[in-house]
Amino acid sequence: MLSEVLLVSAPGKVILHGEHAVVHGKVALAVALNLRTFLRLQPHSNGKVDLSLPNIGIKWAWDVARLQLLDTSFLEQGDVTTPTPELVEKLKEVAGLPDDCAVTESLAVLAFLYLYLSICRKQRALPSLDIAVWSELPHGAGLGSSAAYSVCLAAALLTVCEEIPNPLKDGDCVNRWTKEDLELINKWAFQGERVIHGNPSGVDNAVSTWGGALRYQQGKISSLKRPPALQILLTNTKVPRNTRTLVAGVRNRLLKFPEIVAPLLTSIDAISLECERVLGEMGEAPAPEQYLVLEELIDMNQHHLNALGVGHASLDQLCQVTRARGLHSKLTGAGGGGCGITLLKPGLEQPEVEATKQALTSCGFDCWETSIGAPGVSIHSATSLDSRVQQALDGL
Ligand code: MEV
Repeated sequence: MLSEVLLVSAPGKVILHGEHAVVHGKVALAVALNLRTFLRLQPHSNGKVDLSLPNIGIKWAWDVARLQLLDTSFLEQGDVTTPTPELVEKLKEVAGLPDDCAVTESLAVLAFLYLYLSICRKQRALPSLDIAVWSELPHGAGLGSSAAYSVCLAAALLTVCEEIPNPLKDGDCVNRWTKEDLELINKWAFQGERVIHGNPSGVDNAVSTWGGALRYQQGKISSLKRPPALQILLTNTKVPRNTRTLVAGVRNRLLKFPEIVAPLLTSIDAISLECERVLGEMGEAPAPEQYLVLEELIDMNQHHLNALGVGHASLDQLCQVTRARGLHSKLTGAGGGGCGITLLKPGLEQPEVEATKQALTSCGFDCWETSIGAPGVSIHSATSLDSRVQQALDGL
């Protein structure tokens, strides 16, 4: 087992195009968001496993000796154990969660214990570790924060147990794992996501592991080659929404007006494909005309999503505020409130970006300037000079 401190980060995600249509077998494009979750793992010798999640005010500790004595044979079903509901019930007993434990807290703890016990059980003795996880991502906003959490845990635990090598070499500030190692990280992270979400599609953990941009259709995931790192404003309207209800609403509209709604879904599919094509051609020196195409695609999709019934007055306001400044926005994710993205063209002056952010903030929204197409799960030097990494360490 490794004895050094590990510092790992993984990105969140946004859907660029294809939300809702993807439920009906169409293509979705999901991209890594450069808002990241950071994890610091410190092996220690006090016989405890400590987990702290400062964003949601959690601190938990278990005695390794007690965990070692528990019957965890239910986890021994081959290399990557599937977290069935029965297994999750058994994990709850192991965790000793109180009945009144908040849902977010209990899911985070269960995903951690599941990954810790499953990955570390191959060691002669369970390791004593101190793990802290901190995120730049807002929780529960549809930005893949739980997937980034599972990806960080899987990467750090697999590395400390030497199931995969630490790719950080002397003098490196940051590095990434090989394709094979990333596949293993993704496999385990998907199981962590299943503990948290039951039956997720797997796209969130895939984007967080691989980074960049992914195409997703009917369970098939593939990476886009060399996607450009686009600058965006990400806005959280903070209007709560229920994904299940919104998805059901689209289904009902499709059943009621098949001749009208099916062509909308086909058109959204074509938008995703056109966007994929343009992103593939943008490379390292995108042309202004390519940005114009991306903006038109954003506008058309936003209208389609409104026609599907998943818009919201707050999202209309977001589109109007940015439109007044010559910028183009659409909802991302389930809609009905939630988050929206605004494309920032190169050459846009910083005061103009700041003024737009200010205008959105004064609508009561949270707004971040960030990029999409960010790198996937990465390992950082704990003495990195990167100010963001330092800020994350300060938050732990
Ligand atoms: C939610 O982030 C995206 C939807 O397409 C639902 C889904 O794909 O499961 C609305």
